[in-house]
Amino acid sequence: MEIIIQDGYEAISTQAAQIVAQTLNAKPDAVLGLATGSTPLGLYKELIRMHQQEGLDFSQVTTFNLDEYVGLPKQHSQSYHYFMHENLFQHINISEQNIYIPSGTTSNYQAFCEWYEQRIVECGGIDLQILGIGSDGHMAFNEPGSSLGSRTRIKTLTSQTIEDNARFFESSDEVPVYSITMGVGTILEARKIILLANGAGKAEAVAAAIEGPVTSMCTASALQMHRDTIFLLDQESAGNLKMTQYYQWIQDKMPGAP
Ligand code: PGA
Repeated sequence: MEIIIQDGYEAISTQAAQIVAQTLNAKPDAVLGLATGSTPLGLYKELIRMHQQEGLDFSQVTTFNLDEYVGLPKQHSQSYHYFMHENLFQHINISEQNIYIPSGTTSNYQAFCEWYEQRIVECGGIDLQILGIGSDGHMAFNEPGSSLGSRTRIKTLTSQTIEDNARFFESSDEVPVYSITMGVGTILEARKIILLANGAGKAEAVAAAIEGPVTSMCTASALQMHRDTIFLLDQESAGNLKMTQYYQWIQDKMPGAP
């Protein structure tokens, strides 16, 4: 794991965008795993800027989103389909047929989940997965207690996640109770992962994920088992880490490493 602590949100967003751009420059038909929520908005804004001003090309890129609310139609303003089109897809030159987002309205969830997993494999696997982290330590909607080997499936949201996400709805009663989400096992198969976090509200979850035990009580802690994960953190979200000085020391010494 690489832990990078930046001054602020803009810096983590820019650095994440640079990693995405490097991935696409090396492999123009890369498969990206994408996340929703407030955290990746700065990254998406920067990718749009890079596309518009620097010609960053998405024409051969395939994307798989992590999750979706069950029961919200695609056109619903809080669906993750809507979010992705509003905040990224409609501003870049990605081909509509290369966009995959779990369905929140399928008539057969089990079959859909199996198909989604199979499509990821058929497309060659995820080269770079973008993640946020929930205040309860979830990645995607893998809430506490999710098996660390879990695959794409239906997951019941915790009351904490429902409260956290209520800010986007009229009230917490309107937040869907179920989600369809890639599993922890699905995510761990990505070749490279970047987890972004900002703000003091994430400090506890970030510390548990990086320095706590590997446990289904904080599913992001499973990233300790992944061989190429970068945590991009602002100062506040890194506030509860104990080994901060060492993480900084590593970054300072990296240019001289053999
Ligand atoms: P947020 O959500 O980016 O809106 O904080 C992160 C998450 O729940 O994974």
